[in-house]
Amino acid sequence: MAGGAGHRWRCAAARGARAGRGRVDRYAGHGASAARPRLEEAGPLAGEPLPPDRARQLRRLPRPGRSPVAVRLPERARGLHGAAAAMKRIMIIGGTRGIGLALAEHYAGQGATLALCGRDTSRLDGHPLAGHPQVRIEAVDITDRAALERAIGAFNPVDLLVVTAGQYTDAAGIAADPEATLPVLATNVGGLYDAFDIAARHMRRQGHGHLAAVASIAGLLQDYPGASLYSASKRAAIAICDTFRKALEPFGIAVTVIVPGYVDTARLRELNGGDARRKPFLQTEAQAVRRIVAAIARREACCVFPWQLHLQVRLFNLLPGFLQRLRQK
Ligand SMILES: NC(=O)c1ccc[n+]([C@@H]2O[C@H](COP(=O)([O-])OP(=O)(O)OC[C@H]3O[C@@H](n4cnc5c(N)ncnc54)[C@H](OP(=O)(O)O)[C@@H]3O)[C@@H](O)[C@H]2O)c1
Repeated sequence: MAGGAGHRWRCAAARGARAGRGRVDRYAGHGASAARPRLEEAGPLAGEPLPPDRARQLRRLPRPGRSPVAVRLPERARGLHGAAAAMKRIMIIGGTRGIGLALAEHYAGQGATLALCGRDTSRLDGHPLAGHPQVRIEAVDITDRAALERAIGAFNPVDLLVVTAGQYTDAAGIAADPEATLPVLATNVGGLYDAFDIAARHMRRQGHGHLAAVASIAGLLQDYPGASLYSASKRAAIAICDTFRKALEPFGIAVTVIVPGYVDTARLRELNGGDARRKPFLQTEAQAVRRIVAAIARREACCVFPWQLHLQVRLFNLLPGFLQRLRQK
């Protein structure tokens, strides 16, 4: 079994010191500050209206000339604010929609300078972050190492790199189109490795940094007959994060792997006939962002949520193979 029987995940609390108190970054001044679109017109996906809570959050985005601390945070988040605010330059590969975009909105609200990457940047057309002077948007395919080198080099210094880019499709989809298998590997495994490798070289030179990736709770499933390629690719993603963490620890560079259960993103809904509510222990994007941001701020090695699904996976791993094979995907 890949990963070894009884392989357990312990979410170690932060060990490392907080990221050094950074210098104050100037606004990147990327692009002209176009007239800000009306929030009602903007959406995570073109044409999709923003949920009211997200629209309220985005109305409070700091603009140049206003202190980021003007963004009011709930009491319990203030401790995280200081740590997160110290990480000023954040690149999110996969930041054009879903979890990556929701994270971008959060960090923009804290005054970070952002680079958002994805293959199709038109996904951000009409979104308030497009045209924001602190946000750079780049068309990058994570499977293209040369493009990654250019994008990371151009945004350098990167204080935090978050990789959310990932491909997931259902097993039936892959069975129907075997050509879909290699892109899953190239994105979820090869792309993640390349992005970390390139960013780590820059971070070693600059003497600090933080790498984070969104894997999946599916990656905690041990291999068993009939297990999905997606699950195997996310197991590999978790192992890549572990390996980089070991390698980079002596240089003070943290690596956080986020291991979420189901998150109610547009992509998950697409794969579930437009409604993902039947998925067990479904998290909203806002809940996922809170967990991810907290784990990154505390420089946690690994953050698995929700605990209920984590428990189910651990119990499932204890079942004999003939019972595991009965699992419905
Ligand atoms: N939603 C869930 O229930 C869930 C649960 C566990 C784990 N995850 C993981 O969380 C991550 C984000 O999920 P999500 O639901 O937010 O997915 P999503 O909405 O499909 O977002 C994926 C993002 O990655 C980008 N991307 C995909 N392939 C890329 C490539 N080759 N190069 C560069 N960018 C690429 C996409 O933009 P373009 O398509 O324009 O490139 C998009 O911005 C994925 O890794 C997924 O496996 C999701």
